Amino acid sequence: MQNGTTLNQFLIEERRRLGGTDSDLPALINDIAVACKRLSYVISQGALVGVLGSAGSENVQGETQKKLDVLSNDIMIEAAQRGGYLAGMASEEMDDLYPIPAEYPKGKYLLMFDPLDGSSNIDVNISVGTIFSVLRCPEGVTNPAVADFMQPGTQQVCAGYALYGPSTLLVLTTGHGVNCFTLDHNVGEFVLTQPNMRIPEDTREFAINASNARFWEKPVKRYVDECVAGKEGPRKENFNMRWVASMVAEVHRILTRGGIFMYPRDTKDPSKAGKLRLMYEANPMSFIVEQAGGASSTGRERIQEVPPTGLHQRVAVILGSKNEVERVVAYHKEG
Ligand code: AHG
Ligand code: MN
Ligand code: MN
Repeated sequence: MQNGTTLNQFLIEERRRLGGTDSDLPALINDIAVACKRLSYVISQGALVGVLGSAGSENVQGETQKKLDVLSNDIMIEAAQRGGYLAGMASEEMDDLYPIPAEYPKGKYLLMFDPLDGSSNIDVNISVGTIFSVLRCPEGVTNPAVADFMQPGTQQVCAGYALYGPSTLLVLTTGHGVNCFTLDHNVGEFVLTQPNMRIPEDTREFAINASNARFWEKPVKRYVDECVAGKEGPRKENFNMRWVASMVAEVHRILTRGGIFMYPRDTKDPSKAGKLRLMYEANPMSFIVEQAGGASSTGRERIQEVPPTGLHQRVAVILGSKNEVERVVAYHKEG
């Protein structure tokens, strides 16, 4: 009988294969995985345990928080703060960074996360997820300040997401490819099910919120118009469109069968560079996508090279199949 490789076995074997000695990162990933398992359970119970609906509060970005936004934030903090692997955390749902409480040992990593991505979908039972990114805390710093988190995405040592869909999945990179694990609810373990995920370089599927079309910049409008024109247009091929409104679900589709996902800069609110957050949405997803052979850009620069200026900074996101992302970037260059 083939039992499959558990997440823990995978992390130990990967460390051995790479000749690594750090046991803190695998242990931190395991703590994060525990939080994702707990969340998977709570989300699956939904209305039965009264977790759907609004929390009646707003986050720092002025978005209404769902009960599950708040709960998932608490679950992640509780699971990750005790191990002694972290010096601090930051989350989409907390105004300021979260220092590790004095009663717990401090570690060498920083954790940034979006505890519940796609939360507008939670009440209608559509897939949601958790996104996370791990940075190294600067040498000698035990009480990190916001400035210590302001590292470009290229500095990430690990990124991943959990997808709470028909199955619960954990997709992970530590900079050595991308691997997907499926939660076996019977034994409570994530089991390796899609090793070494690769994004096809070409695609005929795009994802964008078309209700923003009137605010798009010229290069994005041109790209989408050409896709929609299909066989009769300049691309001479028909394209398909998807929009789940859960970035985790969109990225997972792209990792599975290719595609391009865009939440570009637009003219809707000139004070915002995009909708998605650099530190806990764009950077981790870019790391994963690039590790799987895809590309990611703001249209003007590689996302992982964007210099961070704030925890909740927003950024334009164009990611997925390499050749299509490069085409959109080329359209931006042409103006
Ligand atoms: P969050 O639920 O963490 O605020 O993120 C939602 C994001 C992302 O998951 C999705 O791609 C996008 O917002 C959906 O935006 P629209 O509401 O414009 O569809
Ligand atoms: Mn999100
Ligand atoms: Mn969120």
